[in-house]
Amino acid sequence: MADWIARTSGSVQGRIQVPGDKSVSHRAIMLASIADGTSRIDGFLEGEDTRATARIFSQLGVRIEAPSDGVRIVHGVGIDGLLAPSCELDCGNSGTAMRLLSGLFASQTFASTLVGDESLSKRPMRRVTDPLCSMGARIDTEAGGTPPLHISPAVALVGIDYDSPVASAQVKSAVLLAGLRAQGMTSVTEPHPTRDYTERMLRAFGINIDYRPGFASLKGGQRLRATEVQVPGDFSSAAFAITAATLVPGSQLIIENVGIDPRRTGLLEALRLMGAHIDIHNVRSGPTGEIATLLIQHAPLHGIDVPVTLVPDMIDEFPVLFAAAACADGVTRVRGASELRVKESDRISAMANGLRALGIDVHETDDGADIVGGNAGGGDVDSLGDHRIAMAFAVLAQRAGGDVQIRDIDNVATSYPSFDTQMRGLGLGLEAAN
Ligand code: S3P
Repeated sequence: MADWIARTSGSVQGRIQVPGDKSVSHRAIMLASIADGTSRIDGFLEGEDTRATARIFSQLGVRIEAPSDGVRIVHGVGIDGLLAPSCELDCGNSGTAMRLLSGLFASQTFASTLVGDESLSKRPMRRVTDPLCSMGARIDTEAGGTPPLHISPAVALVGIDYDSPVASAQVKSAVLLAGLRAQGMTSVTEPHPTRDYTERMLRAFGINIDYRPGFASLKGGQRLRATEVQVPGDFSSAAFAITAATLVPGSQLIIENVGIDPRRTGLLEALRLMGAHIDIHNVRSGPTGEIATLLIQHAPLHGIDVPVTLVPDMIDEFPVLFAAAACADGVTRVRGASELRVKESDRISAMANGLRALGIDVHETDDGADIVGGNAGGGDVDSLGDHRIAMAFAVLAQRAGGDVQIRDIDNVATSYPSFDTQMRGLGLGLEAAN
């Protein structure tokens, strides 16, 4: 288990591109694998999560070539062409892989078992298995609704009109992917719009799908056509450098080629409400939403009540928002974010415990926290093996009064393997601990 030592260094300066979007990379492999013909993916995230998805499709008979870093050539086998696996399918740390694949495999005529690592094995899966079983799928979980998922061969799925109780792109996507091979129409309505990459990408792969914010609907029995996918930079990865440049005096940073879909960029709004200086330039449209160049300058921050309506649009960015809040003047209140308790770790308590270890006052609630901005000191924090907790504390350490030891950082490789080298290149103080 590796650790980092992170500490204040100079200002954050430079121009970077962050690795490819994780959500788009997963979906690109999945849809290309079940399409007719050969697809090319550029900008693919070379992370452990997305590689796990690619490995699973190789185990189901899909030939996937990797001619260079960030490129995949996927020889699709068609919607009915996946082969029965001869082993358990390992999703590693990835909730996106497990939940979306459960939808895709629920309609197959072969049995499959989806397993995950220690963190994923604790995460709730009934949110996907309930709607899938109501379509006729047969999926067994552990008693608490946790993985492994044992998926029995399907007889025939029927489409549903699903009113999802949770604002989750993973749930919506699982149901839509099952709907591809179900009889009739499958529709999903969400309590709050979530990222629509599955819908946009199904359309790019030739599927006739009707969607608008908070709703999506498709008819079963359609086939996917191979296409080319250009994966944008991942806003959730950019979020760390954006926050570091905002927090450290004298910083000026440019991030190019970042996806700025509004369903992903709630953090920009929240940081701006706190006083951040972030400009968006060179906006152009891409198949998975708008892409832009971001220009960030240091600015002093003040605490805010994070608008509850922003929560789904920044659901992966709360660890780094907590770090920003710890350096802001006054109190930042987060509410309506109970989903954070079932991410790769319980992100509310992981951040609260780490902040307290650095001398920051935090009051936890069931669905959020009050973070009292102050002067963080040095100390020892446990990331609990959660990539975004580790990276958030690496950012906060740039404003701490002493060295911050960050425990258990290996899983940073799930989403951002080049994080430490890229951040050092921008001037952040971050080293492997001995
Ligand atoms: C994702 C959706 C979000 C997000 C996750 C990726 C996706 O999860 O937290 O990192 O790719 O669909 P939920 O849909 O469970 O909110």
